[in-house]
Amino acid sequence: MTDAGMITVEGIGKRFALPQGVMSRLAGHPAPAVHALNGVSLQIRRGETLGIVGESGCGKSTLARCLVRLHDCDDGRILFEGQDIAGLEGPARRAFNRRVQMIFQDPFSSLNPRMKVRAILGEALSVHRMCPAADIPDRIAALLALVRLNPDAADRYPHEFSGGQRQRIGIARALAVEPEVLVADELVSALDVSVQAQVVNLLLDLQQRLNLTVVFVAHDLRLVRHISHRVAVMYLGKVVEIGATEDLFAAPRHPYTRALLDAAPELDPERRSRQVAARGELPSPINLPQGCLFHTRCPLALDRCRTERPELTDRGPQHQAACHLADFGAPSTETTA
Ligand SMILES: Nc1ncnc2c1ncn2[C@@H]1O[C@H](COP(=O)(O)OP(=O)(O)O)[C@@H](O)[C@H]1O
Ligand code: SF4
Ligand SMILES: [Mg+2]
Repeated sequence: MTDAGMITVEGIGKRFALPQGVMSRLAGHPAPAVHALNGVSLQIRRGETLGIVGESGCGKSTLARCLVRLHDCDDGRILFEGQDIAGLEGPARRAFNRRVQMIFQDPFSSLNPRMKVRAILGEALSVHRMCPAADIPDRIAALLALVRLNPDAADRYPHEFSGGQRQRIGIARALAVEPEVLVADELVSALDVSVQAQVVNLLLDLQQRLNLTVVFVAHDLRLVRHISHRVAVMYLGKVVEIGATEDLFAAPRHPYTRALLDAAPELDPERRSRQVAARGELPSPINLPQGCLFHTRCPLALDRCRTERPELTDRGPQHQAACHLADFGAPSTETTA
């Protein structure tokens, strides 16, 4: 089951200040900053897997960290079941921290090397008082079974496991506190390709069995397509397209999405039109382009694109794109290679 708006992200912005030289400051120049998020809006529905894709540096990890409140936003707000998460304090904040869990990208650094798996999972269970102390061993065994690890894994240290197994331990630790939302940032990027599918399939299975809401952040389009119900495409800290996975992959409605799919060797070559290859380099997030953030690389850019920033508008059922060319990718104008 899904419902609209378990989490609603409303126009969030996030900047990271950069050091400013004395001369620049004396000259009255504004302090330089990386504009990591520039008005991200989207909804995350209960029980869905939402994929977040985009080139490196487009703000995926920053968005993921804002969702779990590892970063506070500079603009906009994030509502969890209607409540602004920035205002949560005390027990409400602790409850949020339990219900929305992040699984980190790097299984090698996110697990304490001096703690056995039993202690790692036991700590997660006791911090949030998930069960009486006497029940902890059984809960640990159940968690290991859930992520398909043998019970004897409890008495080993993280370094004794392979990368894929370590990522399973990371998933078990997140699940220990019975969360409703998992935010997985590049969950399998550090793993061998042969192991990636096993871990992603485990996540897919857990999402269905536990009715989890999953935000799956990745740059690998094939994995995102496999696991996600809906996909959001980010460019320079903004969502430029969001839609149901198959709609978005079959008929992208934003030139950047089309360029991203065209450039992905892992996707079906028959789908490619090669009409909209992005030109040139990704602009610096320190000096954002005016108007449409993609206009410096878009082969279809109009004069208007250089001054007017397009917002997300409806392009079909559950499908939105932010482009002045309202017909781009629409069935009647679809081009074939
Ligand atoms: N803590 C930070 N301090 C300064 N800049 C940061 C920080 N985190 C991210 N950035 C910058 O913000 C932009 C977006 O980064 P990130 O969210 O990591 O993108 P992605 O995950 O899509 O690769 C990048 O330019 C990155 O260098
Ligand atoms: S708004 Fe203009 S520049 Fe931006 S993607 Fe659409 S056509 Fe290209
Ligand atoms: Mg990242």
